[in-house]
Amino acid sequence: MAAGSASPLPDDPPGIVDRKAEHIRINLEEDVAAKGVTTGFERYRFVHRALPEIDLESVSLQTSFLGRRLDAPLLFSCMTGGTARARQINRTLAAAAQRHRVAMGLGSCRVLLEHPEVLATFTVRDLCPDVPLLANLGAVQLNLGVGTAACRRIVDLLEADALVLHLNPLQEALQPEGNTRFAGLFGRIEALCASLEVPVIVKEVGWGIAPDLVAALFDAGVAAVDVAGAGGTSWSEVERHRIADPVRARVAAAFADWGLPTAEAIRLAREAAPRGTLIASGGIRGGVDVAMAIALGADLAGSAGSMLRAADLGEETLDAAVDEITDTLRIAMFCAGARDVGSLFRDARLLPRAAGGAGTPELLTGARRPSAARQIRARLTPPQHSAAGGAATP
Ligand SMILES: Cc1cc2nc3c(=O)[nH]c(=O)nc-3n(C[C@H](O)[C@H](O)[C@H](O)COP(=O)(O)O)c2cc1C
Repeated sequence: MAAGSASPLPDDPPGIVDRKAEHIRINLEEDVAAKGVTTGFERYRFVHRALPEIDLESVSLQTSFLGRRLDAPLLFSCMTGGTARARQINRTLAAAAQRHRVAMGLGSCRVLLEHPEVLATFTVRDLCPDVPLLANLGAVQLNLGVGTAACRRIVDLLEADALVLHLNPLQEALQPEGNTRFAGLFGRIEALCASLEVPVIVKEVGWGIAPDLVAALFDAGVAAVDVAGAGGTSWSEVERHRIADPVRARVAAAFADWGLPTAEAIRLAREAAPRGTLIASGGIRGGVDVAMAIALGADLAGSAGSMLRAADLGEETLDAAVDEITDTLRIAMFCAGARDVGSLFRDARLLPRAAGGAGTPELLTGARRPSAARQIRARLTPPQHSAAGGAATP
């Protein structure tokens, strides 16, 4: 793409904006994948339906999010803003979000509060008038003087449908300039949910949100939770590439395998919050991952790193990447016997793979019902059965 061209800014402001530029460069040029931990999707397989009793062309990927229709249960996860290159990426993603009718997330908007002149690097509503648009802020900012009025200003300026608060204690702890005052934050999130006019969504950035916190966040008034689990982009690895001091770089490296894998995070979150809106992200790379995430309990799947790389190569590459995901998802749903997104969770059956790759005889199905969720928990306690214990009966 024409990254860096057509700058909307005379000069990118320093400091926070430099960091944003570095984050994009590192994500595009360095190996920032989590190491020693995977998403966990490989631990499951769909039970193939040899006779799905539906027509492929009648399979519907449609869903809704924040009151808007989506043509596929997908979200371009929150990433960027603040620089000329970020503007180009945001506009490429937003235009694609509108073409494909998927949800669009913007990166942390804190810079807007300090440098209102960068507004144009975040403004995308003109390109995606019909899709859910998410503004974003580090939750820790609520402990550092950012209140409801500032959040409201961000949402209004960007014409966003919701404000996403990201939880990133590990990233902040590794950043030389990080903010680690996380004490008392839960109450501030709860207060913001009560005072802000638009829904508040909470996400991690790639280390997952444990089920007890997911349940507590919904109780506090959060409209949706994105578990953003481990197995995809590792922000300790991203920060490691920014650290000059070798000791601090080794400290960052120690967290390359940290976090709750995405598949487990979403399965446990659905058990903890049977009716909450859940987003699965963290290492979602293709349509089978999306199908699996939904079958495990997600309403929507988000992708950041792989969409960034596609968007950086331009609109055609991004369109092809989204088409590939939706084509794969449609076929996966067909072969799992799911005619729509709801049925993918209710009716498709998953087979946890035992260590060594063979399937166990235990099927997961109908997990949205709390009683079924309890059964699933029981079924997934460490295998008391052997892989040779019998074949699954579809
Ligand atoms: C370049 C880049 C910038 C990001 N910036 C933000 C951000 O500002 N706010 C946020 O909540 N998450 C941010 N993230 C995290 C993603 O939204 C996502 O949670 C994480 O990368 C895991 O998803 P992935 O494995 O698909 O990349 C960023 C990710 C990337 C790749």
